[in-house]
Amino acid sequence: MVAAVRVHKAGGPEALTYEDIDVPVPGPGQIRIKQHACGINYIDTYFRSGLYPPPPPQSLPFVAGNEGAGEVVAVGSGVTEIKVGDRVGYTSALGGYAAERLLAADRAVKLPETISYEQAAGMMLKGMTVEYLLNRTFKVRGGMNVLIHAAAGGIGLIACQWANMLGANVIGTVGSPEKAALAKVNGCHHTILYRDEDFVAEVKEITGGKLCEVVYDGVGKETFPKSLDCIRPLGMFVSFGNTSGSIEAFSINILQTKGSLFATRPTLNTYAAKREDLLAIANDLFSTVASGKVKIPVNQRYALRDAAKAHRDLESRATTGSSILIP
Ligand SMILES: NC(=O)c1ccc[n+]([C@@H]2O[C@H](COP(=O)([O-])OP(=O)(O)OC[C@H]3O[C@@H](n4cnc5c(N)ncnc54)[C@H](OP(=O)(O)O)[C@@H]3O)[C@@H](O)[C@H]2O)c1
Repeated sequence: MVAAVRVHKAGGPEALTYEDIDVPVPGPGQIRIKQHACGINYIDTYFRSGLYPPPPPQSLPFVAGNEGAGEVVAVGSGVTEIKVGDRVGYTSALGGYAAERLLAADRAVKLPETISYEQAAGMMLKGMTVEYLLNRTFKVRGGMNVLIHAAAGGIGLIACQWANMLGANVIGTVGSPEKAALAKVNGCHHTILYRDEDFVAEVKEITGGKLCEVVYDGVGKETFPKSLDCIRPLGMFVSFGNTSGSIEAFSINILQTKGSLFATRPTLNTYAAKREDLLAIANDLFSTVASGKVKIPVNQRYALRDAAKAHRDLESRATTGSSILIP
């Protein structure tokens, strides 16, 4: 038996139940990982609350969490690329909040020695997401104006550093002056307190009326459709999350009236679906972090048994950067 955090019935943070579970021996194509750190992500709250159903064949009760890092302690038949003793990280595989877990071997990525387990748990999902959002969904280039909502969050602090590294003029919205200071230390050139200030007017002023080539919006309901007014003609709206709730249905004609805009709702699952892409995105992240140009701020650490508190903190906007659980 190993310690894990399961959801038996969708609900609030109290739905996260700390208990012992059985982890079977790995089947064909699977590995068993002894986890040293588990990542906490906003998507974990969507699965917990029932906003996203667990992907089949999983069903209630399921182990929460989608990211982690640890040591391989057993491999199933047919697994050749990963060996017992390898240090691995993974993302986007429900079942993360546990001391040990099974994982499809083709979803595991070997960690370079330069990347610690805690760093990996703090970045496999968030850092890989930033890599594809800034390099693949829309290619950020030097001199572009880029707006990043929730710039002091887990995705936000990594995205600010990465966009800065690419030479963009980085504008970030944040919920408090403390978060503004933190975003600035992490490469954000201009911050906007979007709970108090009109962020559209601020973006117009900061860009001298030119607006942004791209807006990265993980907030959703509360920032839509105002985010569209921050984008220059032919620019890109990237809606990648819904911390304030999902964007409601809208007429596609709005994209025409706002300047022939492009809009996309991407997910890492699509961008990293093929193993070659998973490895390319992960390796780009590893080399960028190893270069020191992007750091992974793991600002909250919790014991595995305190997962419910971790979710309360995340959903009440009390966290900055990445959060992890230590089994
Ligand atoms: N599509 C993908 O591939 C993908 C992958 C990973 C994550 N995501 C998305 O990226 C977003 C950020 O994820 P994260 O794990 O890094 O979380 P996070 O940004 O660390 O935490 C959420 C932040 O959102 C802001 N926020 C704005 N309105 C909020 C509200 N009503 N309730 C709670 N928070 C609110 C808060 O920052 P302020 O106080 O500064 O407003 C809060 O700290 C999420 O929407 C997540 O679903 C998408």
